Amino acid sequence: MRLIDGKKIAKKIKSEIAKEVAVIIDNDERAPHLVAVLVGEDAASQTYVESKERACSSVGMTSSAYKHPSNITENELLDIVDFLNKDDEVDGFIVQLPLPDHIDENKILERIDPKKDVDGFHPVNVGRMVLGLPSYVSATPQGIMMLLERSNIGTQSKQVVVVGRSNIVGTPISILLSRKAENANATVTICHSRTKNLKELCASADILIAAIGVCEFIKEDMVKEGAVVIDVGMHRLKSEETKSGFKLKGDVAFDEVSKKCSYITPVPGGVGPMTIVSLIQNTLKAYKKEIYS
Ligand code: GUN
Repeated sequence: MRLIDGKKIAKKIKSEIAKEVAVIIDNDERAPHLVAVLVGEDAASQTYVESKERACSSVGMTSSAYKHPSNITENELLDIVDFLNKDDEVDGFIVQLPLPDHIDENKILERIDPKKDVDGFHPVNVGRMVLGLPSYVSATPQGIMMLLERSNIGTQSKQVVVVGRSNIVGTPISILLSRKAENANATVTICHSRTKNLKELCASADILIAAIGVCEFIKEDMVKEGAVVIDVGMHRLKSEETKSGFKLKGDVAFDEVSKKCSYITPVPGGVGPMTIVSLIQNTLKAYKKEIYS
């Protein structure tokens, strides 16, 4: 079994991005600028936004966090989106999810200018991705594609099983891997809570992608000998064994599954670091107007 070291791959890609940004700055140009809009006090969201800011500064990009109390109204948040859409000094921005219940997430996401939608959540970007047109692809599926590519794991004609059909992971990764493209061309099955024979389907996969959001859902008997296993899950469990008081686990029962597969992503240090790199990569694309001129 070989570990797919997401941390190492992410570091390499970040150094490539940093080189490009250094050239921009050496030419006395403005650095690429990412804004994260954060509503409320959700601890996980705050941590995510802080790591996005740290990643930006590590490659020489500018980042700003717009923090707002949870009682902000939907209209006030729409005004902020309108403001950021027009600000020429902002290349891309994200509205960190989840939003409080009184705000319609879809309404906010649809208001973001697709040209600045570095999260790739806007229906225009999702639609363009489905059609194989240039688009921003959301961070996690883009990160998984890069992990596979950079680990030289071929996908052509492979049986891929994706467990989970969310809009931001399961559905887009299924589309990306089944596309007619050199780093795709896989035969993809999406499984979900209503799937019959889930265990058998998972056990038929050459590449198994676990994005179900249930801690250690994938057990040893659901994995084929020699399969590649990509774990998208991230569960923070209380633990007395660690200094921090918690332990991170994925959607895969790592200890038992890792004995059986050829490659596996650890949690933490697998898919997670790649998602942040994808976001800064998208910000650089926005700066360079690579997707939309
Ligand atoms: N919440 C959890 N993941 C994400 C993400 O990738 N983007 C945004 N905007 N919110 C999130």
